[in-house]
Amino acid sequence: MAKEPLRVLVTGAAGQIGYALVPMVARGAMLGPDQPVILHMLDIAPAAEALNGVKMELVDAAFPLLKGVVATTDVVEACTGVNVAVMVGGFPRKEGMERKDVMSKNVSIYKSQASALEKHAAPNCKVLVVANPANTNALILKEFAPSIPQKNITCLTRLDHNRALGQVSERLKVQVADVKNVIIWGNHSSTQYPDVNHASVKTSSGAKPVRELVANDEWLKGEFITTLQQRGAAIIKARKFSSALSAASSACDHIRDWVLGTPEGSWVSMGVYSDGSYHVPAGLIYSFPVTCKNEEWSIVQGLSIDEFSRKKLDATAQELSEEKSLAYSCLQ
Ligand code: NAD
Ligand code: LMR
Repeated sequence: MAKEPLRVLVTGAAGQIGYALVPMVARGAMLGPDQPVILHMLDIAPAAEALNGVKMELVDAAFPLLKGVVATTDVVEACTGVNVAVMVGGFPRKEGMERKDVMSKNVSIYKSQASALEKHAAPNCKVLVVANPANTNALILKEFAPSIPQKNITCLTRLDHNRALGQVSERLKVQVADVKNVIIWGNHSSTQYPDVNHASVKTSSGAKPVRELVANDEWLKGEFITTLQQRGAAIIKARKFSSALSAASSACDHIRDWVLGTPEGSWVSMGVYSDGSYHVPAGLIYSFPVTCKNEEWSIVQGLSIDEFSRKKLDATAQELSEEKSLAYSCLQ
């Protein structure tokens, strides 16, 4: 029997990520090839005409899974009945700007959209915040939507996770699909800690640790980490716009694995509400390694954390605590 359509909200849908993301959702990249969808697209009034153009293109593309499109500048209409909300709308970072510079513009948007989601989304709506500062916007959304279960509010660090898989694959000249279990800890920012201590590569003679195959700790503790920490800025420098196709694709990966589950023996990185695991202060949205089953994520427990990693985990937690204070001061 055909499945009932699920409603997927994309905010900022007339923007760059939105334009890359909505066709992916309509093709089944987010919820699976047999899951019909109704797209809800929200943008602000100055972008209404462009948003309507995106709607026209979605109709023209004749996606078989796409059962309807709501294109609106009304946040209540946009949020009504949605099962998945991908929050992309906001003010993007431009060349030369730090993520903190976009804080005040974006946290007030997330405060007001929290209430609309809380009141009008479907029960158990899953929320993914993409717009920067992604972790802190997600935290503000959580705090101002207290009736949404905190486990349902997450932020995107899957792009960083995928970037780490890509860097390892390039370095070792192996298929990216054969690399697994990298971890992004912390903030989606230049303090994030990409960790390969538990990562492996599938080889003809079984799984081998990435650290052993790379055999160059200087690279793993240096250039590998800084490349990932600076990748967003490098893309802005090259394109003059922030990453869009990779962000959209990673947003699909994040929701797909959350809803459909992670493969046995693999984990992914998600920004989730900290419960104090790995001595990360509770009350932050922090990127952890997670597995997903039955539409729920769980933090992978019991991984060893060496002294080098401990410092990195703490530094990115410290930045998130500072962002949290700054966000609250912007809202006063
Ligand atoms: P963009 O400027 O092209 O698009 C943003 C869209 O949001 C615009 O169409 C704008 O009109 C709309 N918008 C602004 N205020 C809004 C509001 N209140 N409600 C609804 N829509 C609103 O930017 P983009 O390149 O698509 O990037 C979007 C966000 O994603 C940025 O904050 C960017 O920094 C962030 N980003 C995050 C990641 C990640 O991995 N977490 C990766 C790339 C980009
Ligand atoms: C990215 O990682 O590509 C984006 O978050 C861009 C940014 O603002 O860092």
